Amino acid sequence: MPRKVNYGVDYDEEVNDYEGYDYDYDYDYDYDDDIEDNGKAPQSEQETSKRGLWRCSVCTYDNDEGLFACDICGVLNPSKTGTNIDKQTANFNDMNFSRVSSGITGKNGLLNIKSNAERSDVSSSLMLKGKQDSFDDNNCSKNKAHNVQSSLKISDGSFATMPKGRHHNVDEGSCSKNDMANILSSDKSSHSSPALKLKGRHEITGDSSSSLISGGKPQSLNSSLNKMALGEGSGFSNNVNARGTRSQAEYKPEKWMLNDQAEDTLIQLNLAIVGHVDSGKSTLSGRLLHLLGRISQKEMHKYEKEAKLQGKGSFAYAWALDESAEERERGITMTVAVAYFDSKKYHIVVLDSPGHKDFVPNMISGATQADAAILVIDASIGAFEAGMDGAKGQTREHAQLIRSFGVDQIIVAINKMDVVDYSKERFDLIKQQLGTFLRSCGFRDPSIMWIPLSAMENQNLVVASSDVRLLSWYHGPYLLDAIDSLQPPTRDLSKPLLMPICDVIKLPSLGQVSACGKVEAGALRSGSKVLVMPSGAVGSVRSLERDSQACTSARAGDNVAVSLQGIDAGNVMAGGVLCHPDFPVAVAKRLELKVLVLDITTPILIGSQLEFHIHHAKEAGRVAKILSLLDPKTGKVTKKTPRCLTAKQSAVVEVALQGPVCVDEFSNCKALGRVFLRALGRTIAVGIVTRIIESQE
Ligand code: GTP
Ligand code: MG
Repeated sequence: MPRKVNYGVDYDEEVNDYEGYDYDYDYDYDYDDDIEDNGKAPQSEQETSKRGLWRCSVCTYDNDEGLFACDICGVLNPSKTGTNIDKQTANFNDMNFSRVSSGITGKNGLLNIKSNAERSDVSSSLMLKGKQDSFDDNNCSKNKAHNVQSSLKISDGSFATMPKGRHHNVDEGSCSKNDMANILSSDKSSHSSPALKLKGRHEITGDSSSSLISGGKPQSLNSSLNKMALGEGSGFSNNVNARGTRSQAEYKPEKWMLNDQAEDTLIQLNLAIVGHVDSGKSTLSGRLLHLLGRISQKEMHKYEKEAKLQGKGSFAYAWALDESAEERERGITMTVAVAYFDSKKYHIVVLDSPGHKDFVPNMISGATQADAAILVIDASIGAFEAGMDGAKGQTREHAQLIRSFGVDQIIVAINKMDVVDYSKERFDLIKQQLGTFLRSCGFRDPSIMWIPLSAMENQNLVVASSDVRLLSWYHGPYLLDAIDSLQPPTRDLSKPLLMPICDVIKLPSLGQVSACGKVEAGALRSGSKVLVMPSGAVGSVRSLERDSQACTSARAGDNVAVSLQGIDAGNVMAGGVLCHPDFPVAVAKRLELKVLVLDITTPILIGSQLEFHIHHAKEAGRVAKILSLLDPKTGKVTKKTPRCLTAKQSAVVEVALQGPVCVDEFSNCKALGRVFLRALGRTIAVGIVTRIIESQE
């Protein structure tokens, strides 16, 4: 059933004459004449006057002219696209990597992270594996979750999840009830995608834990959001004016917060495994975990046996990550699986993403935590080409998304080389075609590593290949070497705490609730006071777990489960944010964005409905205003209030969301200021939050 995202619907008079609109005329418009200063134009469009710099049209950062793409947000440098590709940069394959043996210490066996829980129709989120020991008591029922959340079926099966009842809450000024009714009437949650589930391997949850609805207290969630919308109750209102009583400049981190190496010698690196469906992401992840001692031999035998019994012998390694019955039966990953291994240099958090296009929202929610990515390519004839297909290929969409998340280091794992006899020609062809595309996404040559491998035949993974067909021409690093050569991510340690919540685990019998996610800024430790937004509830940290091990503190970059005390479980929800009590994150439902429109075929109009993605939150929304078109080269406003947006245009828009989200301006916190707009099952635009507009209640 087609999704009722209706580009063609007229929401106001401006678009009534849309059909006869002459695009060519519009583009040839005399921009100078058109630009009048009505006081609403974005402020950051002054042309950069400095020589040797180009100004990003989206985030307005002044980049070195030599860069292909904006250093901050990845938008392309228009003067560098096309054929003008910088050839000076050396490819990693040409570099000399020392072939150290892995030096990897598999810590106490298997630690990947997935829930065995059957996928429910609710949005669920990341579950840290191994939590079964401490959280096996979760008895929040799926049914409750069902009660709380509906999944919005989109034509091709992807979903925008919305807490039930939000539509009663629609801000009429920004998003009419009728508009939302259109969306809601297409509600088909029959086979929904969980929003995001980092899988905890055993029966962590029953799952309810998860997601926006965070098990079991639908009313409290909705009412907490409602309260926020109304600015009542919690002491916080949902507008930017409510953002704490103190400015961030006043924040002084304590000494322990800055001590990055207090507990670990290894730096944590969140590594997203992305790529087209069936390219071998889970097989590769499972193989790595096995080789590095995180999956025992016994366990591997079990997977092999079970997979064979179901006639899916080739999926044995993937089964280590695809744990739900449905994933195994369908042979596809549906939710993000999280697992851990240590390399010489890093404590790696593997985020194995689903490749199927129906589950891109889940991929987004997981990969949004990534510091770096492995883009897995199926080298087989036809398979690489399918991934590059403009309409259906997830190689393209994943690469674009991951770059938009701010990930600028990527390892391209050209997998299934066994199928093409480890052919150098095939490798070179893929490298050449995909390389051009990756550069167009904003990846720079020195930050792309190309590794030919076979996950199935264990070639070039944690030691150099032993196959002469590969050895005869490939002398670069093996995969683990490449991972160790990634640059360590920088962390925002000196800012107040911000931890977007990707999952919530509840233990009602013990009255405990844990929030899971990646700390984006600041730090916390046992006893720290925290504020949960948007509910506004304040409590303290009872304990912390990282990689299923108790730890006393966590800092920016760490992926942790934070057990909270003094907070009602209903006030903690996926899509929310843990923050410092004196520096609450803003909560808003009307935002100004700078966006870059991707390859769309249907123009974006005022009134176009969309799914709005920001960290782990998703909301239905609509384009309330198209404020201006920007010159891609200078970021200068070229036209005010255009009627529509088409492919590859940069623009400033205002979106009105159905419900409020925790948000920050991109200039203040990248992780909370990056957004993705999706419609009809595809990402239609990426962007950043430039202004948080006060709610209209
Ligand atoms: P999604 O998560 O659903 O997108 O799939 P995936 O990318 O995780 O692929 P998965 O690991 O499930 O593997 C898909 C199929 O490819 C399985 O049948 C694997 O056995 C096969 N496969 C994976 N790696 C290799 C490889 O190196 N060589 C060969 N010949 N087959 C492989
Ligand atoms: Mg998979």
